[in-house]
Amino acid sequence: MLKGAGMAGYGQDTEQERQLAQAVDFLRQGLLVAFPTETVYGLGADATSEESLSRLYAVKGRPTSHPVIVHLSRMEELEQWSSGPLALAFRLAEKFWPGPMTLILPRAKGVSLSLTGGQDSVGLRIPSHPLALSLLSRFGPLAAPSANRFGKLSPTTAQAVRQGLGSEVAAVLDGGPCQVGIESTIISLLQEVPRVLRPGMLLPEDLAAVCGIDVELSYLPENSVGLVKAPGTLPSHYSPDTAVVLLAEEELESTLEQLTLAGLSVSLLVFQKNEALARYGCVAESLVVEPSAEPYARLLYARLKSLDQPGRSYIIVEKPPLDPAWHGVNDRLRRASHGNYIQLPHRPELEPQS
Ligand code: TXA
Ligand code: MG
Repeated sequence: MLKGAGMAGYGQDTEQERQLAQAVDFLRQGLLVAFPTETVYGLGADATSEESLSRLYAVKGRPTSHPVIVHLSRMEELEQWSSGPLALAFRLAEKFWPGPMTLILPRAKGVSLSLTGGQDSVGLRIPSHPLALSLLSRFGPLAAPSANRFGKLSPTTAQAVRQGLGSEVAAVLDGGPCQVGIESTIISLLQEVPRVLRPGMLLPEDLAAVCGIDVELSYLPENSVGLVKAPGTLPSHYSPDTAVVLLAEEELESTLEQLTLAGLSVSLLVFQKNEALARYGCVAESLVVEPSAEPYARLLYARLKSLDQPGRSYIIVEKPPLDPAWHGVNDRLRRASHGNYIQLPHRPELEPQS
């Protein structure tokens, strides 16, 4: 029995070995390989090859002025890629790497401007997914944006990568669903006070504890689209095709009633499917989610994808709580819903006659 289990494990290992070896081969040829990280799947390219980088930007459909994150496997590599302030970078790295944190640092001499979008800074991260680490330690540094086309939702499964990018990637390494589910927390160390450019699942208080000072939040936590410092902070990023609209719990029922009268059907992402909402079951396909930030983030993109159905006028998402644990989730939801509001079709027969 034990022996059998061992054999099965061994078989899987050799298959994974074969896939890793093939992925390294593709990367050496300048091709692109998608791989799992703990946050979202990345679209990897040789970070030291201009040819690979131009392929990466072309497939992603991303303007070359938008920098990409360089993924590393060892902390010592920080010094090859950046020129400081390394003391603080190492403190943060020791605490949060491997893990869902990206550091923006001054680039070291020789770091290609194709990686940095022409800027003098570079984004660096050591991911914690074992398959990502195996690939990185075999191949070396990989430039990797999220493995979606520009402006679309990031993929959190290998299947979602294949659906989005199809034959344009040489290989997709399947490491199962991502555990964090939203992209890394990006911290800029380019100024005296560390600044969070993109919130993720790291808590501001945990970052502050390592930095010995409160970190600045350059995104504004509520009713804001943030400062455009990094392209991932463009307001309209991370959108499904169907318009996402955020509503407070108390607005849900009356909105559904109006939508029903208008003959529109919608998708719903709510914390509780109470009886009142259940009445609108025919027009609203609903997914009930846990009111806890980590499981919510883990499944957020997969849920938005599954609610993104033809024929639905909106994906209505119940607003999550505002406390710091939810900053990353709220940030992505605000961007996904930026500029959207419910518009009811004009129905003169429903208007009061004067
Ligand atoms: O979790 C993640 O960060 C995932 C996984 C694959 O590691 N990657 C990811 O990459 O989200 P991407 O390219 O989709 O988003 C990276 C963000 C972009 O908003 C980019 O502008 C920012 O990082 N960034 C990279 N280098 C930068 C730099 N030098 N200065 C400012 N922002 C930078
Ligand atoms: Mg992205």
